[in-house]
Amino acid sequence: MKIFIGILLSVSISFISKAQIAYKFAIIGDYGKAGINELNVSNLVKSWNPEFIITLGDNNYELGEQSTIDSNIGKYYSDFIYPYTGGFGAGDSVNRFFPSMGNHDWYTDAASAYLNYFQLPGNERYYDFVKGNIHFFVLDSDPNEPHGVDSNSVQALWLKNSLAASSQKFNLVYFHHPPFSSGAHGNNPYMNWPFSKWGADAVLAGHDHTYERIILNGFPYVVNGLGGKSIYSFNTPVTGSVVRYNNNYGAMIGNAYNDSVVFKFYTVTPTLRDNFKILPAKKKLFLTILPEGFYNAGSGISVTDTIKVFLRKTVSPYEVIDSASGYSNSAGNVSLEFVNALNSTAYYLAVKHRNSVETWSASGNSFSGNKMNYSFTVSVTQAYGNNMKLKGAKFCIYGGDINQDGFIDDSDLSSVDNDVFISAAGYLNTDLTGDNFTDIDDLSIADNNSFLSAGIIRP
Ligand SMILES: [Fe+2]
Repeated sequence: MKIFIGILLSVSISFISKAQIAYKFAIIGDYGKAGINELNVSNLVKSWNPEFIITLGDNNYELGEQSTIDSNIGKYYSDFIYPYTGGFGAGDSVNRFFPSMGNHDWYTDAASAYLNYFQLPGNERYYDFVKGNIHFFVLDSDPNEPHGVDSNSVQALWLKNSLAASSQKFNLVYFHHPPFSSGAHGNNPYMNWPFSKWGADAVLAGHDHTYERIILNGFPYVVNGLGGKSIYSFNTPVTGSVVRYNNNYGAMIGNAYNDSVVFKFYTVTPTLRDNFKILPAKKKLFLTILPEGFYNAGSGISVTDTIKVFLRKTVSPYEVIDSASGYSNSAGNVSLEFVNALNSTAYYLAVKHRNSVETWSASGNSFSGNKMNYSFTVSVTQAYGNNMKLKGAKFCIYGGDINQDGFIDDSDLSSVDNDVFISAAGYLNTDLTGDNFTDIDDLSIADNNSFLSAGIIRP
């Protein structure tokens, strides 16, 4: 019996651990130099059995020539390449090798050996692809790139627009020349693009033959150039440098989970040298909303209060995807952070306030680059079913739904009436003006809106 339970237990444990990890991918940089170091790194990578490999540039030392490319790349990694026409085996039946271009790849004939050797998406120099919940963006950081390499270039505009359109949980950007590095080559300021602002979650690069992890404003920049060519020394650590390693060759493995990506850097022995995790970026909603009784049209100032927003799918039954609460300021602005929402995915905003009618946005709205702005107050058409009331120059949500059942009716009126009768004071749902007293002003708002049969209007 004990044996039977033991088997059951081990079966269920292995099932759980396999279910959690979606897939593994390997990350190698500055690797393309045939020899024992590249061999050792490629054996480490293959021991992980990754679904695919990404490279951080310098795929073919020394000069990016046709005559060296297959012995520098295919000899070690042909099992991942499709179509593969080199001399080391049959290649794969689907491409699982996604390189980026380094300076050494550009040294001969405008990178023609590289561009002929690989068959990649888009223009092949910079491109993107999606695997599971990760959208990968591959840049060409070499100054020979015809579409430019600074943050205003055609290439950068492509990245900005592509990141804004990505609906994946994670967006990883990788290329060769690191924006920040404590290694011998150092920083490449022209590659310091606003990656985080545009919606990326991490940047991976190579060029310096070191391993380094730099965290700036919570955003990870990795240098991983120990793939087999040579090893560089470090200079004075740059700002934000938290891990530096340069004593042996190695590679990274990325473990993609449903709600995180875990990166590990191993050297060839194999020894774990770094380990870090990224989580989905919080999505920020900058909302403007005014509960009618709380807003004073004369002064233009609103009493502050808690606002709760539910993000709902735009198709029936309009399932709730996420919710968040925030505290409005005197202009009715409130910022809310969501953890489950995705970019470029439309949601209805269903707004709740302690004694107002639940009010929905007119249509689905999307986060872009982890941000969304939405104002209910600028037009009645901002609310689904035009369900707001004009007060001064601002559209406000109806007050009076004390019991939050979606309607303003006798039961709400009677609650307010009772509290007026006892001169109730404090933070009460019957206080429709937010002045901490339940009085005749509150009763009047509820009475008017009850007369209008105000209530929730939703799809
Ligand atoms: Fe390089």
